[in-house]
Amino acid sequence: MQVTITPVKQLVGEVKIPGDKSISHRGVMLGSLAKGTTRLSHFLMSEDCLNTIKAFQAMGIDIEIIGDSSEFIGDSSKLSEKSVNGDSSQIMQENISVIIHGKGLHGLKKPAKTIDSGNSGTTARLLAGILAGQAFEAVLDGDPSLRKRPMNRIITPLSQMGADIQSINDNVVDNAGSKANQGGTLPLSISGGNLKGIEYTLPVASAQVKSAIIFASLTADSPTIIHQPALSRDHTEIMLSHFGGRIETDQLTLTSYPISELYGKDLQIPGDISSAAFIITAALLVPGSRILMKDVGINPTRTGILEVFQQMGADIVIENQNDSQGEPTADILASYSDLRGTEISGNVIPRLIDEIPIIALAATQAQGTTIIRDAAELKVKESNRIDIVVRTLRAFGANIEATEDGMIIEGPTPLTGSTVTCEMDHRIAMMAAIAGLIAKGRTILTDGQWVDVSFPGFFHLLEKLT
Ligand code: S3P
Repeated sequence: MQVTITPVKQLVGEVKIPGDKSISHRGVMLGSLAKGTTRLSHFLMSEDCLNTIKAFQAMGIDIEIIGDSSEFIGDSSKLSEKSVNGDSSQIMQENISVIIHGKGLHGLKKPAKTIDSGNSGTTARLLAGILAGQAFEAVLDGDPSLRKRPMNRIITPLSQMGADIQSINDNVVDNAGSKANQGGTLPLSISGGNLKGIEYTLPVASAQVKSAIIFASLTADSPTIIHQPALSRDHTEIMLSHFGGRIETDQLTLTSYPISELYGKDLQIPGDISSAAFIITAALLVPGSRILMKDVGINPTRTGILEVFQQMGADIVIENQNDSQGEPTADILASYSDLRGTEISGNVIPRLIDEIPIIALAATQAQGTTIIRDAAELKVKESNRIDIVVRTLRAFGANIEATEDGMIIEGPTPLTGSTVTCEMDHRIAMMAAIAGLIAKGRTILTDGQWVDVSFPGFFHLLEKLT
């Protein structure tokens, strides 16, 4: 889907940000493993979360989608070419609830076919942890972007726990006689059951790896201890406690206990701060803008972007703080600001890892130098986000260079519209779209449908604000 973006005068208004992607995935997973009914309100009906729903339906779980989802459930093929300044048929999905009729920790059945995780690393890695505890064999696959991403990080701990996990292509020999793939990538075959508790030190601060191990630990024969190098998002820990699980946290060490049963819950899912990040940045960069975002999740493991933007001089006000079953929420008011460069490194990186593309765009408009370090994980996201962010923003005229573990940006630089291919990466698509709002001339996204992976309704929401 080609999308054309032209500069806007200002963005003003109040919006509701779609539900949190990480929490939506976990809600479906824990709801399926729990006994009884789970209702997830303000669910994110995006391509990624739909893949998680389909995976559990394929394993015999009855899942209902209630609300206006029939119009648009992350299927961009229904959308025609559109312009952010023109008319849009994309439907907002504010009120979707998902109802899951869970069957308990051992209630999943062997799927008849390969499970397709699509573009979603969270689906693949967390599901691997769940499958590790199930007494059947299943095959897990994904799209070409996900097939490139490292799975050794979950294969290693889950194998130590006793699961039999094989990367199917690892033994494929190419024409030159060497193994085509040594990296432990999808597709994976997983035969689970009979797990034992382990003590494991995560080599990277990854919530996906941590969560995969926690899911596997639920049916292990003894507690599992996980040491983290730095804090990553803790939605699994919070939600598990609500469903009746037992997990203890002592600074960077977690102890997860096996349990006999989880119980279904009703959850209100907060707006996704990683999606809000694009709208916040648009407000900061487009002169005269002022945008209020209601009920956004402000879990401290996710709010690195707010701290960094405030450090850069951004006018961001956090109001009406609340709590949604252990997940803090607030309204965020962001206004046009004069930004200054900053340094972003160390423990804050896992707390804003998904926001680095949009922070890089903001830095192109900030006075002075912004240095991003300790972010080598960007290379194994939906695309190599160090290379692709640098290449894309350079095409707009930005002064940005890649480093081994981050990037250096000099600002402010006036941007000029560009034609962008998103490299199967939703966050690159949205970064380029926001750049297009402040760039001179026209910006064309050749494959704007990728936004549906995490933010269906993104273009519609921007139009509403113009
Ligand atoms: C996620 C964890 C992060 C993040 C991803 C979602 C999650 O990945 O980048 O978009 O829901 O657990 P890592 O765990 O690989 O850092």
